[in-house]
Amino acid sequence: MIKRILTGDRPTGPLHLGHFVGSLQNRVRLQDEYDTYVLIADVQALTDNFEHPEKLEANILEVALDYLAVGLDPEKVRIVVQSMVPELTELTIYFMNLVTVATLERNPTVKEEIKQRNFVKGVPVGFWSYPISQAADIAIFKADLVPVGEDQLPMIEQTREIVRRFNRLYGKVLIEPRAMLGAVARLPGTDGGAKMSKSVGNCICLGDPPEQVRKRVMSMFTDPKRIHPTDPGTVEGNPVFTYHDVFNPDQAEVEDLKERYRKGTVGDVEVKQRLFEALDSFLSPIRERREQLAANPKRVYEIIMEGTRTGRALAQSTMADVRHAMKIAYKFA
Ligand code: TRP
Repeated sequence: MIKRILTGDRPTGPLHLGHFVGSLQNRVRLQDEYDTYVLIADVQALTDNFEHPEKLEANILEVALDYLAVGLDPEKVRIVVQSMVPELTELTIYFMNLVTVATLERNPTVKEEIKQRNFVKGVPVGFWSYPISQAADIAIFKADLVPVGEDQLPMIEQTREIVRRFNRLYGKVLIEPRAMLGAVARLPGTDGGAKMSKSVGNCICLGDPPEQVRKRVMSMFTDPKRIHPTDPGTVEGNPVFTYHDVFNPDQAEVEDLKERYRKGTVGDVEVKQRLFEALDSFLSPIRERREQLAANPKRVYEIIMEGTRTGRALAQSTMADVRHAMKIAYKFA
């Protein structure tokens, strides 16, 4: 039987290079081999944007444009809007019985996010428990594989625990998924921070115009100990070289730049200029496709609606199995 992929993104804005190397690249690569579903997780986006729900609608389109622009083929991949699959809410509630408060409190990604978010009135239950709803996302589509960035590993582990528990208690209905990390598990931000993040402003988005990309690249963080272009520099852990490794297909050029950087015979400006050129040839076709698609949003909405219909039918069929296994598919109904 053909295996299935489910993964997703919160529609909080357009997607960036971190999303690409963490997950999008694997989705594109595997779309011929796997039955692929990608979820635009608007319900999850609400867990920390509930004060600005009006932003979701436009961002759903942005994310769908990014998916199609990087090469997800709507003939093969279903794009599903989370809030339009209400069965997810039901499964989330059943899953809540299978997770302890202590386990939720240990989730390192959620802990980190809570620190960043600075919730004024305390942590909302919706945010704190979103790993349970994410487990429902993955389980309802009976996914085998979840291509994600490193920060999502605790969510997949949580999903596996819930699925094991469900299957042991009620019978083997659900599938224990595996995570798949990208070629680079985590791309640093342009400021050298741990990861690209929109709220920090250290991103290069897939649809950014060339001037914006150039600006970000030229102001990138490099080796902080290197003051003059004649100082020997460090390549390891230097974000400019991390990006070169990922996005510059000319390996010989990258090796040459690294060697000269270590010796102190190349300036940051040249290294960055070459990086900009590599990024620009990578991003140009994506940007072009994105602009073409954006000119015809009606077609994009058709793709989303079609994917959501198919996704919902699959979710409904899983829920019939779930209710039956849980003995709540009442005979009198
Ligand atoms: N938590 C993911 C993110 O922040 C988005 C997401 C929601 C997801 N549901 C998912 C990812 C299911 C993988 C599988 O980007």
